[in-house]
Amino acid sequence: MNMDFSIEEAVRKRRSVRNYKEQEVEADKRQAIESFAYSLENPFGEKVNFYFLDYKDMKNEQKLGTYGVIKGAGQYIGATVKSGPMALEAIGYEVETLILYLTRLGLGTCWLGGTFDRKGFANAMDIEEDEMFPVVLPYGYAADKKHMKEFAMRKMVKADSRKGWEQLFLKNDFRSPLPRTEAGDLEFPLEMVRLGPSASNKQPWRILLKDNACHFYENKEPGYSKIFPYDIQRIDMGIAAAHFDFAVKEKNIKGHFDTSCRPETELPEHTEYIISWVRE
Ligand SMILES: Cc1cc2nc3c(=O)[nH]c(=O)nc-3n(C[C@H](O)[C@H](O)[C@H](O)COP(=O)(O)O)c2cc1C
Repeated sequence: MNMDFSIEEAVRKRRSVRNYKEQEVEADKRQAIESFAYSLENPFGEKVNFYFLDYKDMKNEQKLGTYGVIKGAGQYIGATVKSGPMALEAIGYEVETLILYLTRLGLGTCWLGGTFDRKGFANAMDIEEDEMFPVVLPYGYAADKKHMKEFAMRKMVKADSRKGWEQLFLKNDFRSPLPRTEAGDLEFPLEMVRLGPSASNKQPWRILLKDNACHFYENKEPGYSKIFPYDIQRIDMGIAAAHFDFAVKEKNIKGHFDTSCRPETELPEHTEYIISWVRE
């Protein structure tokens, strides 16, 4: 995988796109996207598989549902993983990397974890039954305007706003917010996490700075994941890890991910440890 583009530019430019132009994506771009996807890796030790579907090749009766959420997309990508302890984080990390790449190619895309016909897409993409199939991405050129349902969805989840620093980042313990001015060289990677997408824009990421490490926690929205066949907010945690990882690498801040250094600390309700990034 070759991340030869500015993480900040891609993170700031990316938006969920649910309305697409008729314009086809050029064959060489589609080829580059497939190669990029197959080259991806993640720090969670799970293998993610990608499937590509050309919507225009399908006959009408085979057309797949996104409950009216996605309009006009010619291409879809499915991502699967075998069930494993960090399978969903791995999907989050690799799919978000692919989304940043699509963004940098000038294409629009949108995470779909809920609003798609899972069975229909699994059939059309020849996905095996023993694979977890949590997400699908449409991609293509964004239409000039959003459709009505898209407006309504963005408004409902307040898609254009993000939680403040004081709600997401902490130092030493969960009672002490980390002021932005005290983050030092970690200000940039943390800000890149803060601007990321998440399911229904719930932003479950909490990051605790302690003992020369950043510890990532999932603040679960009670009841939310019950509407999905898996804990969708673990995907959001993988997205946060990706933004953080590319940001530290871009700034040459040395460190690595490690799942074995869970700190001793009192946790708020519904909060679960995921992974740490340890400075070297
Ligand atoms: C894991 C995940 C699943 C999502 N599933 C859906 C979905 O099923 N349907 C949809 O319209 N948007 C979905 N979204 C998009 C979010 O609603 C969107 O990222 C969020 O509201 C922030 O808006 P933005 O992406 O434009 O910044 C999903 C996002 C993530 C990260």
